[in-house]
Amino acid sequence: MTADIIDLRSDTVTKPSVGMRQAIFDAEVGDDMSGEDPTVNRLEKIVADLLGKEAAVYNCSGTQSNQMAVRAHCQQGDEILIDESGHIVNYEAGAAAALSGVSARLLRGPFGIFDVEDLDGKVRPDNQHYCVTRLVCVENTTNHGGGRAWPLAQMARVGNWAHDHGLKVHVDGARLFNAATAQKYSVRDFARYADTISICFSKGLGCPMGSILVGDAATIYKARRARKLFGGALRQAGMMAAAAIYALEHNVERLQTDHDNARAFAEAISTVCGLRIIVENVESNLVFFEIDPARGTSAQLSARLMERGVRINPSGPYRLRACTHLDVTRADVLQAADMVREAMETDLAQANGSHLAGSAYASR
Ligand SMILES: Cc1ncc(COP(=O)(O)O)c(C=O)c1O
Repeated sequence: MTADIIDLRSDTVTKPSVGMRQAIFDAEVGDDMSGEDPTVNRLEKIVADLLGKEAAVYNCSGTQSNQMAVRAHCQQGDEILIDESGHIVNYEAGAAAALSGVSARLLRGPFGIFDVEDLDGKVRPDNQHYCVTRLVCVENTTNHGGGRAWPLAQMARVGNWAHDHGLKVHVDGARLFNAATAQKYSVRDFARYADTISICFSKGLGCPMGSILVGDAATIYKARRARKLFGGALRQAGMMAAAAIYALEHNVERLQTDHDNARAFAEAISTVCGLRIIVENVESNLVFFEIDPARGTSAQLSARLMERGVRINPSGPYRLRACTHLDVTRADVLQAADMVREAMETDLAQANGSHLAGSAYASR
């Protein structure tokens, strides 16, 4: 049975399943700030072990987790190296600057995935004129970079380069399990090249909230202090940690289904006249596509889709992002694709008097 509204805005719209709600209900809890919540402690141990690191700290959100890492690695005035599409610099309300006094030097890698050539020459010399370059931030999968997963060999190159240059490496792995699924490596193998890794439970894993930051014991100790400083220290958080444990046990294996549905959606819209999408670029659960400016804007297409019961957000003036997740089925995404075709062939067929057959936007 398909849903009334097919919501492809984000994997953050997922709602906890009955099984997850039961796990939440059954959770043993205590005061996490005193280290006394047995379920939070269990989750932190599970994820630290999974990633081959010493310690972990459960926290409220991906933003908080990333910013705890920035704070733990850096001092005021330091600089981070990050792709220009990175979540940490674009979508976290300027937190690195506001909370930690840290600036960013931007890199430009294809799909947000840079390499050592992009890093070369970007470490500031040891000179009083310059800030101290401290941290390389990697995003996996890249979100606004295009939903792509870092190849393991490239991560190894970048991680080793950073460490050889005296830098630390933080991975914004909001969707790390999607990346591992797409590239067929273990999260542990990937984590080997990073000092800290943040993972979100509230996205493709289907939890109501929560992220975790993993790393060595000394860095996680500092990050825990930053969590308190940023107002995110927790009390009986075991209920949400129980959801995360449930998600690790039930919702990781199934991520390939989301990726297959994303591909199916991409395939289905790839022949719609007036859209541009490269199906081969769809590697995870994120599908980016563009509307020909002569046919309308992403906001117009998004509005026309909403009228048809499909929610897809603009991610730029002419760019849209559709995201598959555990609350949409193959039938849902195919129906959504039909609605995209219908909107383009009716409401947005001849906007601005343009006819696009044969243009670069005519198909994939
Ligand atoms: C790559 C990436 N990092 C971090 C975050 C932040 O997560 P949160 O919304 O839980 O703060 C997001 C959210 O979408 C994200 O896509």
